[in-house]
Amino acid sequence: MWTREYSPGGAWQFWSLGRPKKEIVRLVEDASFPADGLSAVVLGCGVGVEVDYLARRAGAGAAAAAAGMAARAPANCVAGVDFALPAVQRARDSYGATDGAFFHHADVLRLPAPRAPLDLVVDNTVLQNVLRGEDGDLDRYLGALRRISLPGHTVLNVNLMSQEGFLQQPGFAECGEALNLPLVRAEQISAALGGDWEVLDQREGLYDLSPEAVGIECEAFYEFGGSATPGIPSHWLLLRRRAGPEPDGEKSTLWQASWRTVGRQRLRWLIIVR
Ligand SMILES: C[S@@+](CC[C@H](N)C(=O)[O-])C[C@H]1O[C@@H](n2cnc3c(N)ncnc32)[C@H](O)[C@@H]1O
Repeated sequence: MWTREYSPGGAWQFWSLGRPKKEIVRLVEDASFPADGLSAVVLGCGVGVEVDYLARRAGAGAAAAAAGMAARAPANCVAGVDFALPAVQRARDSYGATDGAFFHHADVLRLPAPRAPLDLVVDNTVLQNVLRGEDGDLDRYLGALRRISLPGHTVLNVNLMSQEGFLQQPGFAECGEALNLPLVRAEQISAALGGDWEVLDQREGLYDLSPEAVGIECEAFYEFGGSATPGIPSHWLLLRRRAGPEPDGEKSTLWQASWRTVGRQRLRWLIIVR
C-alpha cells in the first residue's frame, strides 16, 4: 500500500509537504542535543525531509549559542528507515549527499540492534499505523524500539494524529470520513509505550497535512495549522527509555557508529551497511 502511494498518482504529497514538519523544526529549536553530534533514526522517514533537516540542523544553533560564536554544524548521524522503496529512492536522490544523512530500506518492526546507542528515535506516524495493523504488530514495534534504544538514554519523539483533537474541531468532521485517517487516542499511546518509556514532555501538536494533495478542500486544516503549515492536531510526546538492564542479543552490522579523527576533530560516523 505505502509503495503505491509513493508511485506516480500516489498520495504521498498529502503528508510530505516538501519542508520539515513544524514539530521537527520546533524540536531542533528547543532541544539540547549532544555537543559531539546526534545519533538518531527517523522511523517511516518517507522522502527524507526530516532526516536531512536533523542531520544539517540538530545542535547547530545551540552549540553556537553556547560557544558564543557562529554556527558550525556538529557531526550528526541520522538514519531514515522506510519500507516503501520509492520513498527511500527519492530520499537518497534528494538528500543522499547531505553529511550525516543515511537512508535504509527496511521494515521498522524488524530493525536489529545497532552497534552503538542511538540518542534519539523519531516516529511521525508508524505507531498509529501499527495500532491499526495486524495482531502482533504492536509487540513487534515495541520489540524493535527495545532493540534500537538504550535504557536510561535514548529519547523517543512521537507525533501522532490525535483522535481527540480531530473530533474537537468541528471543521474536520466534513472531510474526516473521506480521509479515513489512522487517528489515535492518548490512552492508546500510553498503554503502548508506558511500560518501557517515561514521559518527559507532552502536549497537543500539529501534524502537517495538505488536503489538496488528495483532491479535498477542507478549510479546517488551515484554520488549525495556519496558512503556512496546514495540518491536524497531534499527540506530541517526548519520552525516555526507562533505565534498566541493556538487552542481550546479537549486535547487527546494519548500522555501526565509530569515532574517526579528521584533522583535529573527532567525528562520530553512523555507517549504514546496505
Ligand atoms: C504518513 S507517512 C509519514 C512519512 C514521514 N514520516 C513524514 O512525516 O512525512 C508514514 C510513513 O511510514 C512508513 N511506514 C509505515 N510503517 C512502516 C514500517 N513498519 N516500516 C517502515 N516504514 C513504515 C510508510 O512507508 C510511510 O512512508
